[in-house]
Amino acid sequence: MTHIAAELDIPLAAMGEMTHRCPLHCPYCSNPVSLAKASDELSTDEWRRVLDELAGLGVLQFHFSGGEPLVRRDIVELVAHATKVGLYTNLITSAVLLDEAKMTALAEAGLNHVQISIQGADAASADRIAGFKGGHDKKLAAAKRVREAGIPLTVNAVMHRQNLDQLSDIVELAVAMDASRLEVAHVQYYGWALKNRAALIPTPDQLDEATHIVDAARVRLKGRPLIDYVIPDYYAETPKTCMGGWARSFLILSPAGKVLPCHAAESLTGLSFDSVRDRSIADIWRDSPALNLYRGTGWMAEPCRSCDFREIDLGGCRCQAFALAGDAAATDPACGRSPLHRELFFLAVTEASEDRRTLVYRKYAGQS
Ligand code: SF4
Ligand code: FES
Repeated sequence: MTHIAAELDIPLAAMGEMTHRCPLHCPYCSNPVSLAKASDELSTDEWRRVLDELAGLGVLQFHFSGGEPLVRRDIVELVAHATKVGLYTNLITSAVLLDEAKMTALAEAGLNHVQISIQGADAASADRIAGFKGGHDKKLAAAKRVREAGIPLTVNAVMHRQNLDQLSDIVELAVAMDASRLEVAHVQYYGWALKNRAALIPTPDQLDEATHIVDAARVRLKGRPLIDYVIPDYYAETPKTCMGGWARSFLILSPAGKVLPCHAAESLTGLSFDSVRDRSIADIWRDSPALNLYRGTGWMAEPCRSCDFREIDLGGCRCQAFALAGDAAATDPACGRSPLHRELFFLAVTEASEDRRTLVYRKYAGQS
């Protein structure tokens, strides 16, 4: 398998899930269904060594993510270390803990960019989705601090049936927050979000309307902010090139130091991912059997194997194939050529029409 990795470049970017602890309870949380315990998290020294190794490999960007990365007491120290070793740093945060003192310390540590998630356009509905009272107002105050510190801001708005009617107002809110980028990302239904699919999946009409709003906003706003748009896989005809391809240009580190190709990879039962506690990241990137398993196109069966798009989408998402087809090597059911695609589309339409609203909130162990 080594030859496959040898043909690949070094990863351009890495994301550290610094912790799975989080004060919010979002029903579409992208962390694994089984969360890492705080006692299993990498220590400050271990994260420092990880940052050294990544910089040594030639990685350019490091994304501090979670859970909520600001829960970690050493986050400023780690941002400073990443800066020292030459990494471009991005903080992906709910921002409810980003107070004045923390913002000043992070700016002094050299933080390059901040991404703040929002759950809606107004406090009442956003706080209901996040399961965190007062969160929305804290986010707006934090966004102001980010911009006053001269740090570029991305706003990440996760969209679903219960907030899509606010999309126009969310675009305006991103403008008011002085975001340079807005991610309008429909929920993707694996991991925890799968539990809430029936309450969150949009109707096809809602999706059409959202696409129209984004298209119009792109023309009107002329790139300030730039708007990225991700539609729900269930209504797509072609799959997304998930993570730019399995273990191709991006790696994720779990809180306990496992090297993963994507945030949902540990949902693939039967795969074992190596830890930075046991081997160097360079070794893992090159030789890990789990990373090599779905690299490139050699693992594909039909219809992907003979499809003209195989080098473009690299077969879509392995985690979605596993979740929906029960086989990680199957064609992503988001693809119109998957035998499951039509079934999936009708499932989405049916669930959306039932209009359930009750949410199963994400809770870290010990949270009430
Ligand atoms: Fe992509 Fe496979 Fe679908 Fe072709 S058949 S478009 S390679 S997922
Ligand atoms: Fe794992 Fe798409 S989320 S491959």
